[in-house]
Amino acid sequence: MIKILTIIGARPQIIKAAALSRAVRGSFSDSIKEIIVHTGQHYDENMSGVFFDELDIPRPDYNLNAGSGSHGKQTAFMIEGIEEILQKEKPNAIILYGDTNSTLAGAIAASKIHVPVVHIEAGLRSFNKAMPEEINRIMCDHASTLLFSPTRAGYDNLLKEGFKEDNRAPYTADNPKIYHCGDVMYDNSLHFSAVAEQQSDILEKNGLEKNNFILSTIHRNNNTDEPERLNALFSAMNAIAEENKLKVVLPLHPRTAKLLSQNLSSELYSKIKTSRFIIIIPPVSFLEMIALEKNASLVMTDSGGVQKEAFFFKKPCIILRSETEWVELVNCGSAKIVDANEKKIKEAFIYFNNAKDLQFPQLFGDGKSSEFICSEILKTFSTK
Ligand code: UD1
Ligand code: UDP
Repeated sequence: MIKILTIIGARPQIIKAAALSRAVRGSFSDSIKEIIVHTGQHYDENMSGVFFDELDIPRPDYNLNAGSGSHGKQTAFMIEGIEEILQKEKPNAIILYGDTNSTLAGAIAASKIHVPVVHIEAGLRSFNKAMPEEINRIMCDHASTLLFSPTRAGYDNLLKEGFKEDNRAPYTADNPKIYHCGDVMYDNSLHFSAVAEQQSDILEKNGLEKNNFILSTIHRNNNTDEPERLNALFSAMNAIAEENKLKVVLPLHPRTAKLLSQNLSSELYSKIKTSRFIIIIPPVSFLEMIALEKNASLVMTDSGGVQKEAFFFKKPCIILRSETEWVELVNCGSAKIVDANEKKIKEAFIYFNNAKDLQFPQLFGDGKSSEFICSEILKTFSTK
């Protein structure tokens, strides 16, 4: 029996961890024991608690209650807490997801005391180091022993950074193993797709017609914190909604919700607030989100996860950023990068509104990447 210690903290990590926990309980319960540590980076019920029951994730064994704060303060607090738990639990490996401050804290705490790091969602790059996530993911990859990339592009990025394809076991941080293995979020989307619509009345509740609304999420720090960008995004969205009499539903991250009145011009803010077409709601559960994604006609987002889920459910996506880590979506023509540029957003909407035969090839595995990851973790760490 090996012991793994999983770090979760931000919303998407809780969701990603559900896939691996399910695989551990379903196929590896005799050989892998999982301890879950919630850093508390996200803490509102609709950013954290809601996912545990809905996705059947075991309750965390520990919660550090880190809460919000500056990058340094938040990360430092988490490093200290994770180190203490690692010393007490002595796991065979730490499992880290994605690119948040919780990921970085886990990588630093573990690698310094020689607990092997397993990074799920390795190799993704925006090539924009002004993004806090880019720093987090690069640092985590370079402290890792096993690196699981969901895409070929991610795997190739690792090769370009000097990781070797032909390393042989035993693997260590100096002799790491890289994999191209599919996406645990795809595993989740497949697993929860059928029940999502049965269990959710989110469309009815918000007066949304199937295939006749836009789903949008906005939370990237540059979009929320720079008034010029936030105004451009909402101005474009408002114009598209009014001109096409098309509803836009926005389950809004608390970060964005807090900054709308402060960073939008008072004129635009009042238009958005009184619009019949712009529906701003609190963050929704994962099943509700899937129901929205499956039934939207188009998705507009700056989220990494939502871009991909749009693709999983064969919906065109307008990416409200200047680049993406998920370059495959753009390369196959079903997503467009428009940044926070009002003109480009409107053009992309017109393009997708008229587009026929968009392509959504199966690029993210077979829905069983979590089982593959578990078996590789077991192989690597049970021999030690
Ligand atoms: C974090 C991740 C980002 C990820 C996102 C997922 C980092 C650097 N960023 O961004 O990569 O895409 O999570 O959603 O780790 N807040 C609440 N309640 C909560 C959580 C946050 O009100 O439960 C508000 C607070 O005002 C907080 C702000 O949101 O200051 C930002 O939260 P934080 O976790 O620092 O960053 P995110 O923008 O959520
Ligand atoms: N999500 C959710 N409810 C929401 C918004 C997003 O359940 O109101 C899910 C979404 O389906 C995806 C994940 O959260 O699985 C994406 O997280 P987020 O956009 O916060 O972060 P990112 O992926 O950009 O890091």
